[in-house]
Amino acid sequence: MFILPKNVTIIEVGPRDGLQNEKKHVAEKDKLQFIRSLQEAGIHEMELTSFVSPKWVPQMADAKAIVEKSERVGRQFVLAPNAKGAELAQESNANSVAVFVGVSDSFNERNINRSTDESMDALDPVIAKLKNDGVFVRACISTAFYCPYEGKIKQEDVLELCRKFVSMGVDELSVADTIGMANPVESYELFSSLKKEFPTILITAHFHDTRKMAIANIFAALQAGVDRFDTSAGGLGGCPFAPGATGNVATEDVVNMLDSLGIITGIDVEKVCIAVDGISEHVSHPIETGMYRLYKNSNR
Ligand code: HMG
Ligand code: MG
Repeated sequence: MFILPKNVTIIEVGPRDGLQNEKKHVAEKDKLQFIRSLQEAGIHEMELTSFVSPKWVPQMADAKAIVEKSERVGRQFVLAPNAKGAELAQESNANSVAVFVGVSDSFNERNINRSTDESMDALDPVIAKLKNDGVFVRACISTAFYCPYEGKIKQEDVLELCRKFVSMGVDELSVADTIGMANPVESYELFSSLKKEFPTILITAHFHDTRKMAIANIFAALQAGVDRFDTSAGGLGGCPFAPGATGNVATEDVVNMLDSLGIITGIDVEKVCIAVDGISEHVSHPIETGMYRLYKNSNR
């Protein structure tokens, strides 16, 4: 028998992961409209933006305005790679912060200019302060299956990094297939181990869809007991420092699959497509997800 939970939580990452790699500058007002329309679609957990160096990721330079001007609906995450990011996040009154570190050194050196150990040592006091101030902390674990520079990652190395984050007090582990190379067996195995080892921590799966295996990987993760998934409206996304990382799995396609299985997300697929339609004219490539294409065809 298949394991099908009653409810699944979708964490929308479009405004952050979706837009960070976008070549064309997206205006602050268009980002805010995208966020508003996703909230109207029923999304209650969302990564809004990231407090990172504007020299490294110019698209996120308006982070402060985005947080301050968006309406508070549920849990609104901002990414922070270091103490400065966390400080800026707290100044803007963000109630949830996502820190991020990859399993592999080579990826971290390119993404955050530090090795894995250096990043973890620097994040220890940052997480302690956030927790002390009552902030919800999510840890994003990149390159949990494959690294663009080092190839296949050992499951034990992922578990070890997660143990460190858990001992630092994080509330959630969002475990990522950064370059979309994992297959459903790998997804099932890693997420089963994570659910077994960390029964009281929120475990979220974050799949990029480079090889169109993300939906299959989500189904496999569901079988491992995962009921939280990061997805991006319009399938937008990708990390600028991970060659080969194309978009995240599309929110509208994942919600449609969950709907068809009778799993409740509280999200309206058609309204997500309206949000996608709104942002589509501000990105530099066509959006061609399954449900968005159907929506466009039926509205011709
Ligand atoms: P660095 O150059 O080593 O930083 O970069 P530094 O500490 O030496 O500081 C250099 C300058 O940056 C200074 O300014 C700092 O003030 C400033 P200057 O004196 O030159 O004017 N600075 C900052 N400014 C704003 N916000 C900050 C900040 N920190 C320092 N937080 C750093 C290190 C981490 C800052 C840089 O490498 C960086 O910003 N990296 C971000 C990379 C990124 O955003 N990647 C994408 C997100 S992760 C992802 O997409 C993966 C995920 O989706 C999961 C998955 O799919 O795998 C989450
Ligand atoms: Mg990502």
